[in-house]
Amino acid sequence: MAQDVGTGGHPTGMFKTLRKDAWWFEPLWTGIGFLLFTIYANYEMFKGDYYWYNAGVEGFGGYLSPFFSPLFFADTRVWADAPVHESFFGLAPEWWPTWFPSISAALILPLPLSFRLTCYYYRKFYYRAYFMTPPACAVNPAPQPGRYEGERMMLLFQNLHRYALYTAIVVIGFLSYDAFMSFFRGGQFGVGVGSIILTINPILLGMYTFGCHAWRHLVGGRKDCFSCDALNRDKGMTKSYGAWRAVTWLNERHMLLAWVSMIWVGWTAVYVRLVASGTITDFNTWGH
Ligand code: FES
Repeated sequence: MAQDVGTGGHPTGMFKTLRKDAWWFEPLWTGIGFLLFTIYANYEMFKGDYYWYNAGVEGFGGYLSPFFSPLFFADTRVWADAPVHESFFGLAPEWWPTWFPSISAALILPLPLSFRLTCYYYRKFYYRAYFMTPPACAVNPAPQPGRYEGERMMLLFQNLHRYALYTAIVVIGFLSYDAFMSFFRGGQFGVGVGSIILTINPILLGMYTFGCHAWRHLVGGRKDCFSCDALNRDKGMTKSYGAWRAVTWLNERHMLLAWVSMIWVGWTAVYVRLVASGTITDFNTWGH
C-alpha cells in the first residue's frame, strides 16, 4: 500500500517507517520486561514476608532479600517470623502502616530507582517503549503534547544522574555486606546456593554501575591527555588510561548489564522467598 510521503521522502504518520525489520520487537520486550520487574518488586514490598532465611539458627548470618536491604525495621505484625534481631532499629514503629511493610524499600528504593531511571540506557529504553518518542530509529513517533525543547521542566531531573551514581555505590556496599553475611549461619562459616546467588548480585550490580557513563567520565573523560599521567608512563599505558579502558569495556556492555543485574536482583528475592517459605531446600554445607 502506498504511504504518505513527507519531506525528504520519509513516510508521514504515527509509526510509519521505511524499515522492513522487526523494529517493534525491542521496545516491546523491554517494555514488558521492565513492567514485570516493577510488578514483582511491588509484590515483594507490599507483601512483606519471607525476605529473610537463616534456617532458624540464631547468630550472625543468613540470607536477606535485596528488596529489604538494609533492614531498618522488622514488622512482626505482617510476618510473625520477621528477623527483629537482624534489623538495625528492631521492631517497626506502631505508626508505620501495615499495608506497606517494607520501610527499607520506602527509604532506600528511591536511590537505586532514581539511578536507573536517569541512566542513559534506561532513558533510551523507556522513551522508546513507553513514550514512543520515537519507538525506534527512523520510525515516526507517537503524537506529542508539545514540541520537544530539550531537557527542561520535569526532564531536568535526568541531570541528577551523576549524583544518583554515588547513592547507587552506597547501595552496592549494603548488598556486598549481605553477600558476606550469607556465608555464615549462626556465626559458622559455610556455603549455600543462596550464598552464591547473593554474592553474584552485587557483582553484577557493580559491573552495571561501574560501566556508567558518568563514572567513565570521572575515571578518564575529564582528562585531556592520558599520556600526561605521571604514574606508570614508562610502561606504555598510564594507570588512568588502563582504568578508563576497563570502565569502557563495561560501558560497551551497559545495556546487557542493566538487564542482567536487574533480573538478578529479582531472582535473588525469589530465591530467598522460596527457601524462607519452605518451598525449596537450600543446598549448603551447614546441613540445615
Ligand atoms: S549511564 Fe547507565 S548507569 Fe549511568
